[in-house]
Amino acid sequence: MSEALLLSAHAREEIDGWVARYPKEQKRSALLSALQIVQHENQGYLTTELMDAVALYLEQDKIAVYEVASFYSMYELEPVARNSVSICDNISCMLMGSETIINHVERKLGIKIGESTEDGRIFLKKEEECLAACSGGPMMQVNHVYYTELTTDKVDEILDNLE
Ligand code: FES
Repeated sequence: MSEALLLSAHAREEIDGWVARYPKEQKRSALLSALQIVQHENQGYLTTELMDAVALYLEQDKIAVYEVASFYSMYELEPVARNSVSICDNISCMLMGSETIINHVERKLGIKIGESTEDGRIFLKKEEECLAACSGGPMMQVNHVYYTELTTDKVDEILDNLE
């Protein structure tokens, strides 16, 4: 199978959408989004084969893709869980109650930060540095979606709706 065929039709369509936002010679600019899309479709983590497929699809060196995937905390290179949840604990979010949210989520899921639920449904990533949505704190990122102005009720609704 061609490496690029490892990417689903849906993933290729979404990546194409990102590529179209940049000048033709700047395909590389779509790399961060492409990796997030592919990771989301692969139960929350990237494999070497998938990174290679993204490299081929975006006409990049494989090593450049590995560097990006291993540098940014939003990518996982080992199996974790189907959904990745990051709760911001930086200063603004902390002042707006992130600790209450973290404690609530840990209690609700029965796991600590850095762990996955036994059913493989949710991975609670290590506490994140600022996710650049400070005015909406406390906030969390679930897969690639941001949720702001969290309350414990809002968190329950979001987490209960994850597959
Ligand atoms: S401090 Fe939480 S998003 Fe910036």
